Amino acid sequence: MNFDDLLTEEAKKVIRETLDVKKENVNEAFAAQPKQVSVKTDFLSNANVQNHVELYEDYIEKFNNTSAKLDSVDKSSVNSNHSGFRSIKIDETFNMNGAYLHELYFSNIGDTQSRISMDSLSFMRLNRDFGTFDDWQRDFIACGKASRCGWVVTYLNMYTQSYMNCVIDLHSEHVPVGMYPVIVMDLWQHAYYRDYLKDADAYMSAMMKQLRWSVIEKRFEKADRILSIVRGA
Ligand SMILES: [Fe+2]
Repeated sequence: MNFDDLLTEEAKKVIRETLDVKKENVNEAFAAQPKQVSVKTDFLSNANVQNHVELYEDYIEKFNNTSAKLDSVDKSSVNSNHSGFRSIKIDETFNMNGAYLHELYFSNIGDTQSRISMDSLSFMRLNRDFGTFDDWQRDFIACGKASRCGWVVTYLNMYTQSYMNCVIDLHSEHVPVGMYPVIVMDLWQHAYYRDYLKDADAYMSAMMKQLRWSVIEKRFEKADRILSIVRGA
């Protein structure tokens, strides 16, 4: 019997408070802090944004919870049908991706002066890997329409060494490996339903008009540097 299993969460809380230990395990647990979010856009109401930010903060909290629990979970009886360890690992991915994708999404929308320069790295790379910039945009929007509850992400694919769009359902399914995300769009219903009801296409069209290309450009610059390292240059 694992001694940890004998303790209730309440008992563990009392012990941590008594010992003045902030986390379940000070040596291993990872604690993420929510980022300050400021989204000012003509196309989303303040109530919609605020509701969204609260969901993001909940992903951070749950990610921290899973990280702390993994420090003490029983690994001796792990199996693929039913085990606490498996459940927490799946939840860890779900909440970590939920937090990370939201940070990327919030910071790459809401630019009321949105415009992309034809000599920017973003424009040149999208042009190169999708045929034209308009082809990227058509593909990105098509991915949005194909998404259930999930995301559309333009990312640097380490395997093909080019930029691609992908459809992610939820936060833990259909996430390609070897991706570095540069443009992120939230297609969960909570992202738009308050303002657009079920019209995800109208929401998507509106968001495309306020992409924050200055932030996206920095990501492309970083992605290109990563690619240089991957290629061994
Ligand atoms: Fe969201």
